[in-house]
Amino acid sequence: MQFHSPLTLRRRQFLQAGSTFAFAALSRPLLADDRLTTHDGFTTRLRAAKARVRMVGEEYPATEVWAYNGIEPGPVLRVRQGTPIRVTVMNELDETTTVHWHGMRLPNAMDGVPGLTQQPIKPGERFDYAFTPPDAGTFWYHSHDDSLIQLGRGLAGALIVEEAEPPVVDRELLWTIQDWRLTEDAQIAPGFNNRMEAAMDGRIGNTVTINGRVPDSVRVRAGERIRLRLLNAAIARIMSLRFEGHRPMIVALDGQPCEPHEPADGRILLGPAMRADVMLDMQGDPGRSYRVVDDFYGQFAYALVRFAYDKAPAVRAHPSDAPMRLPANPVPRPDLKTTSVREVRLQGGMMGGMGLRSGRMGMGGTAVWAINGQSMTGDGDPHMPPLFEIARGRSCILDIHNETAWWHPMHLHGHSFRVLDRDGRPEPYDIWGDTVLVRPRERVRVAFVADNPGDWMFHCHVMEHQVGGLMTVIRVT
Ligand code: C2O
Ligand code: CU
Ligand code: CU
Repeated sequence: MQFHSPLTLRRRQFLQAGSTFAFAALSRPLLADDRLTTHDGFTTRLRAAKARVRMVGEEYPATEVWAYNGIEPGPVLRVRQGTPIRVTVMNELDETTTVHWHGMRLPNAMDGVPGLTQQPIKPGERFDYAFTPPDAGTFWYHSHDDSLIQLGRGLAGALIVEEAEPPVVDRELLWTIQDWRLTEDAQIAPGFNNRMEAAMDGRIGNTVTINGRVPDSVRVRAGERIRLRLLNAAIARIMSLRFEGHRPMIVALDGQPCEPHEPADGRILLGPAMRADVMLDMQGDPGRSYRVVDDFYGQFAYALVRFAYDKAPAVRAHPSDAPMRLPANPVPRPDLKTTSVREVRLQGGMMGGMGLRSGRMGMGGTAVWAINGQSMTGDGDPHMPPLFEIARGRSCILDIHNETAWWHPMHLHGHSFRVLDRDGRPEPYDIWGDTVLVRPRERVRVAFVADNPGDWMFHCHVMEHQVGGLMTVIRVT
């Protein structure tokens, strides 16, 4: 058997198995392109339970998912920067759960990591999460218990923190993008922890949805300016989005504002868990339609969605000249002269050349991956010593070496970091985030001020990688 074949083989297999279905699904009309819910209050409830939702065409049966409040993705929580929020999570699943507020710089006890920051919420029980979002931006929430299954079955939703003075746009859209492996009768395919996939790029699906639907087109007006919030809520699929006929400007990544800039080679690269806020001046021709193409996996490129222009003339003659820049968030800047530098080596996986003999097991999982020779598996192991400790207030550089043949969106809880450089080349923009996409064999350095005390997860956000050992804890004392 040739060694390079499993990946292509596997893809071909699933494309064959799912292709009729996936293509039929992709041509369905879009019913709801931006299901934005506004919450007036700052108190709300999330009920985690099984639900049946229409994800693909009406001629298919409804898909059984695990969802918040019976909708997929869960309700969009819109809150104000600096205003306290309280969310009561009610567990109506048959197993324990928690909710993690991804990207939030919040108190450790509210971080939603079972065993580490709280007791898991038992079936029939509830837990109150209360915190005050310090930063405006595009964030999200998701289960952090039985993560691969619970996130993979749909327990996720967007959390939007509004700026006190948002930039002027004509319209705002939110695309929560999810990737599913569906069977011919539109059910989530079983077999979540396939060992072969877990050692490669994870479970890539055959059906991509926007806000819980296989989309066809989004209606737009010529000349309008749209703020588009993109959230990759897939468990494994990386996306590289190209907007035909348009020039998207990135104004924030992972909720943190940046200097407005066009993405490198016109593609917005989003690993699982990553967000981008994009300004789109709709400069296409009235009556025409333009595709948004995801070509990350090369020959498996597909049209995610289309912008369908109304026939009416442009709403303005020239693109809006309103400033795009978002107001800054109060994230502390690391002092690069006094940082403590910590080496983080990502190891294992297929072709990783590592036996993982030293890997330690966490709760119910097999180690396929490791960080500095240690594998924390499952949903974490509270008894494993932290990767390192850092004194509160210190600046810290994570010097991440990807020694594997695979991509890893590495995510740090409770902090936002600045991406310094890749393979020694400085990032061209002042980029911040909570998740950094590390290429195969790449070395990336990120810096942050460890100002938030507690035990914080640092893990890959490809779910099989996380539960398979690409996870650790950083302790801020
Ligand atoms: Cu979005 Cu530890 O997760
Ligand atoms: Cu997180
Ligand atoms: Cu990974």
